[in-house]
Amino acid sequence: MYRKIAAGEVVERPASVVKEFVENSIDAKAERIVVEVDKGGIERIKVSDNGFGIEKEDMPLVFEHHATSKIETEEDLLNIESMGFRGEALSSVSSVSKVSLISKTKKAQTGYFYAVSGGDFLDSGTKAFQDGTSIEVRDLFFNVPARKKFLKTPYTEFLHITRVFVDLCLANINKDFKLIHNGREVYNLSAVSDLSLRIKQLFGKNVYENLIPVFCDHPHIKISGFVGKPQMSYDSKSKQFIIVNNRPVKDRIISSAVREGFGSLIMHSASPLYFIKITAPLDFVDANIHPRKEEVRFINPNLIYSLVKNTISQSLSKEDLSFRPEGMSSYKSSNVENVSGRQGYYIHEKVRDVSFANPLSVSDTLEFYSQLGTQDTFEVLVFNNLYIVANINDSLEIYDQHALHERVLYEKFKKALLEKTPSSQVLLTSQSFEFAEDDFQIINRNLKLFIKLGFEIEVWGTRAIEIKAIPSFLGANFSAVTNMLCEFAEDLKEKNKFKGVSSMEEKALSIMACRSAVKAGDKLTHTEALGLLKENIKLKGIYTCPHGRPFKIKITKEDLEKMFKRV
Ligand SMILES: Nc1ncnc2c1ncn2[C@@H]1O[C@H](COP(=O)(O)OP(=O)(O)OP(=O)(O)O)[C@@H](O)[C@H]1O
Ligand SMILES: [Mg+2]
Repeated sequence: MYRKIAAGEVVERPASVVKEFVENSIDAKAERIVVEVDKGGIERIKVSDNGFGIEKEDMPLVFEHHATSKIETEEDLLNIESMGFRGEALSSVSSVSKVSLISKTKKAQTGYFYAVSGGDFLDSGTKAFQDGTSIEVRDLFFNVPARKKFLKTPYTEFLHITRVFVDLCLANINKDFKLIHNGREVYNLSAVSDLSLRIKQLFGKNVYENLIPVFCDHPHIKISGFVGKPQMSYDSKSKQFIIVNNRPVKDRIISSAVREGFGSLIMHSASPLYFIKITAPLDFVDANIHPRKEEVRFINPNLIYSLVKNTISQSLSKEDLSFRPEGMSSYKSSNVENVSGRQGYYIHEKVRDVSFANPLSVSDTLEFYSQLGTQDTFEVLVFNNLYIVANINDSLEIYDQHALHERVLYEKFKKALLEKTPSSQVLLTSQSFEFAEDDFQIINRNLKLFIKLGFEIEVWGTRAIEIKAIPSFLGANFSAVTNMLCEFAEDLKEKNKFKGVSSMEEKALSIMACRSAVKAGDKLTHTEALGLLKENIKLKGIYTCPHGRPFKIKITKEDLEKMFKRV
């Protein structure tokens, strides 16, 4: 009974089993680790490795509570190098499931298997096996219905497994990893020499091409890794990784230090993308504070905080961060032709020359400034490349150029959608993009929605999407397209977070509008600023961007008089 209770601490869900087993493989110095799961791991989890194996005599011991081969003295506990040290994972897992273990050490003649169900011995004996260990769990929580009830759907449980797997792949780049779900190969990664290459394997080319290296070589603490360029910083909470002494962890101190390091380079509400590796002396970090070893404690958290923050801000200050749409050079304007409607025929007319710095200028999205008559002209001034200041009807009006443009585009896209006329740009050569598994699954489940918005989009191989056409209003900025798809996926992961918008469709539109709108800092011409203000007039009764931020502040003559105490 007590073992079942203890198991609750270590084994929360199938993902916890995967974590414990892969960590055991890492401790066994395996170079190749294969994780196979069925039905989100609820039905079956199997982890195989080519590590040093378990001796026949030790097999019964590994299922015992507090049986570890990794720690001998109390002092060892202060210098934990291995992933495991408590000797409770196997005992906990085996008390709430059916486990069969098979292993062979180098010096053994043959393999040996050992099977346990609900903590009770079932069977054991010799069995042919290659060097290494394979451990399989079936029917997790079969004897603890109360816990089984709390498991989510196989889909959700698998996403948890993916996170654990990706964590461990990032922390151990020198090993081969494979993940198979219901017979489908999800990841197949060979060992690499640099973290950025592992990031490329896991998250695709788009993330890889937008990384900024970070580095700090303090006498005791080494910080390395990558952060995403500021334009990658949508709500990317699921692409934030912290590894401390090779252990993937969650850490509020480090994550807020990274965020602080970005300073005002990203919007207040945005979450940056990062992969941070910290190596500190073993006695500087307590790894023994969390039941599932998901957190660590630093002896001097303030030092870590300031080191991380400074490392990030210094690394960012070294980069040229002026906004340039990535991947542009590889997509020549000849790739893009315009089609109206979605019949799939080409109208041979180039949409735009995509060589300019901003993928979609304001003038591209507003129709009419060329026809602006003098009577429509207001006095305008663009302040700080962000605020449009105008004298309109005896009032001083100040607009946030990004928020206003975002709203203008949003209304436009919405109208096109309502009238069922979203036009597409067909790409002469279609493009495929690889995504992380969690993002891929969500995009895959929402293909219909994207098609409705003007995408021509299909699943293409493992974790890849092929895009044949994109909505015209997105411009030819492919980086923005993939970021948009990721951002959409990211938001759907936390469904309740659809700030200010009610449906998925609106959400997608608001992301597209945000990604296509002029940014703070983009230089608008006088005509463009005027054009935006003219569009504003059409937005009767709307004062906020699709996320609910105001885009306009109005100060009347009377307000000014009051402020200057003239009345
Ligand atoms: N894949 C493996 N290869 C070799 N030995 C293994 C493997 N998996 C488990 N073992 C052995 O089984 C023992 C028990 O594993 P278990 O995970 O329960 O404990 P641990 O790793 O020592 O500590 P923790 O509970 O903190 O993970 C390990 O100490 C190790 O000797
Ligand atoms: Mg272990």
